[in-house]
Amino acid sequence: MGKILGIAIKNYGSLRDIKMGKLFSDRNAEELGNMIAIIGPSGNGKSTIADAFGFISDCISSDVETACDEKNRGGFDQLVSQCGAKEIHFEIYYKESKNSRPITYELTIGKDRNDRPYIKEERLRQRRSGNSYGRPLSFLHLIDGKGYAFEGSEGGQSDDDGNESVGTKVPVELSENRTLGIVTLGVMKQYSRIEKFLLFLKSWYLCYFTPDAARQLQTASPSPYLNKTGSNINNVAQYMFRENPDKFKKILQDIQDKIPNIEQIKPVKWPDGQMVLEFFQKGFDKPFFSPRMSDGTLKLFAYFLLLHESNPRQLVFVEEPENGLYHKYLADLAIEMKKNVGTGYAKQLFVTTHSPFFVNALTPNQVWVLEKSDDGFSRIKRASEYEFVNDLNSEGASVGDLWYSEYFG
Ligand SMILES: Nc1ncnc2c1ncn2[C@@H]1O[C@H](COP(=O)(O)OP(=O)(O)O)[C@@H](O)[C@H]1O
Ligand SMILES: [Mg+2]
Repeated sequence: MGKILGIAIKNYGSLRDIKMGKLFSDRNAEELGNMIAIIGPSGNGKSTIADAFGFISDCISSDVETACDEKNRGGFDQLVSQCGAKEIHFEIYYKESKNSRPITYELTIGKDRNDRPYIKEERLRQRRSGNSYGRPLSFLHLIDGKGYAFEGSEGGQSDDDGNESVGTKVPVELSENRTLGIVTLGVMKQYSRIEKFLLFLKSWYLCYFTPDAARQLQTASPSPYLNKTGSNINNVAQYMFRENPDKFKKILQDIQDKIPNIEQIKPVKWPDGQMVLEFFQKGFDKPFFSPRMSDGTLKLFAYFLLLHESNPRQLVFVEEPENGLYHKYLADLAIEMKKNVGTGYAKQLFVTTHSPFFVNALTPNQVWVLEKSDDGFSRIKRASEYEFVNDLNSEGASVGDLWYSEYFG
């Protein structure tokens, strides 16, 4: 469980200094909801935001230097904002459940004496229990790999208040300064808050479905989660079928009602153990197997399957779901996504889009607009912050239509 109430990114590509939602450093701002759409012309930084989330994920699964080099990022020097900046900085404001106290995670990446990226500073903070305001206490603080961590679910140190400390403080010195401290310490039970936060970050998922990947022949190996490209779609179906066949059939029923021209989707087990999906199309007696389905059908199916994963990943980022989809399906997809994420702490969905049809299903404060300043760097604000947008929306004008008509963006 958990979601981010806000994120600040500094010096990551065109994102020299952006904030979304509520932060420790901006506590009066409105929290992020569970559905966030990011819009804006090409080149304004949508993919860079998605990639910033991917970069944090990659720092967790590998190390910060590898993360800088991966995914065409081109290394630290290409990645850092081209304005003389020397450090990349992230701040995440996170809350595990309705009644828990928010946690702030700060991460600064710089370059060491050998000109290689390393973790310069890492810090986790949380307010004392029982306090609904006041300065939070740091329960992990490392500078150049050296500092302290607090055991258990309480306590920390107030660095502004004469180093006042509450709870069990452990001095920490990491022997490796390219791996995150939360990764090293989060595997130890005694650091239960770090462990939980790490699990939350590990459950992030960046989705780049390509219908061709989903058409590949897959060997039988049930898997709980769709991979990045959706190439294991049958394996996920196989897993869901094995876990609970009745529930899976219900999910398929639910999905088939939402995919135009599909009357039924049936799981079929082959002798080699692999499961395939049969799609019964209107007008045909015999089913088609998934490799014969259209790109749009496969993509819609993959999105709906993603929304139905059991133990869903807590933060999902989807880039331009409209690609390959008929425009009239997009509002329904957006509505389904919105419904699926709900308002609790189970799931949060970020989507970048160029489609006013998709955005039409959203409210002005679910939509974030990227603009570029004269200096070439991205700026972001909610659609609700533009003049007239809230009023016109409450009078019945849809957000996508207002965007298309250039009331904002
Ligand atoms: N290190 C950097 N500093 C500043 N701008 C950068 C840096 N790297 C890339 N850019 C710019 O950031 C933008 C990236 O846009 P992108 O996120 O792909 O936009 P979108 O997905 O909205 O089309 C491009 O305009 C690119 O020139
Ligand atoms: Mg893009």
